[in-house]
Amino acid sequence: MNLIFVKNYEEMSEKAYEIVKKILIGKKNATLGLATGTTPLGLYNKMIEDFNLGNVSYKNVTTYNLDEYVGLSTNDEQSYTYFMRTNLFNHIDIDLKNTHLLDGMAKNMNEACDNYNKMLEKADIDVQILGIGGNGHIAFNEPNEPFDSVTHIIDLTPKTISDNARFFTSINDVPTRAISMGIANIMATKSIILLASGANKADAVYAAVKGDISKNCPASALRNHKNVTFIVDDAAAAKIK
Ligand code: GLP
Repeated sequence: MNLIFVKNYEEMSEKAYEIVKKILIGKKNATLGLATGTTPLGLYNKMIEDFNLGNVSYKNVTTYNLDEYVGLSTNDEQSYTYFMRTNLFNHIDIDLKNTHLLDGMAKNMNEACDNYNKMLEKADIDVQILGIGGNGHIAFNEPNEPFDSVTHIIDLTPKTISDNARFFTSINDVPTRAISMGIANIMATKSIILLASGANKADAVYAAVKGDISKNCPASALRNHKNVTFIVDDAAAAKIK
């Protein structure tokens, strides 16, 4: 596992983009695994900036997102589909047909999960971007999810619901379930970059990096991956330094 310490959010985003850019330059038809949340926004801004400078193109790039809330339509401003369009896809030359997200409104959720798993089996993701939840979750894999899980429906924990309430008008509006890639899907990607910034991530980073590799901290599973890089800023690294 590579552990990179950076000063702050800006440096974390720069470092992440350095790695992503190398992949984009080396492989025009790269496949990216993308995440939502506040953490990857800085990286997405760097991707847009550099695209606007004409340095990279996403014409032949394919993307897969990690997760989606159950019950939100793609037009809902809190949905992850809406997030990806407004924060990245609408600002680069990616073909939306090459972007893949889970459907939180699927009539048959089991079928939606199976279809996504089938797509992921063939996807061969070059780099998976991850944030980390305050309780160590990755995507929406909450503590105690088995490490061999694939795309499935998850009941969100009260901690995740309250952490994510900041994006909604009221905590009662936060969906209580999500559809998410499983830990095994994430582990099947070729490389992983986990980003962590801020003091509210310090306990989760400690458990992921220094704790036991256990279901109590889903992010600890990543230590078994052959090519994983954690990029952690000062505040998030406070307990491991
Ligand atoms: C959400 C997402 C995760 C994300 C995490 C942290 O629950 N499902 O993919 O990594 O929260 O979010 P943030 O980056 O906003 O702190």
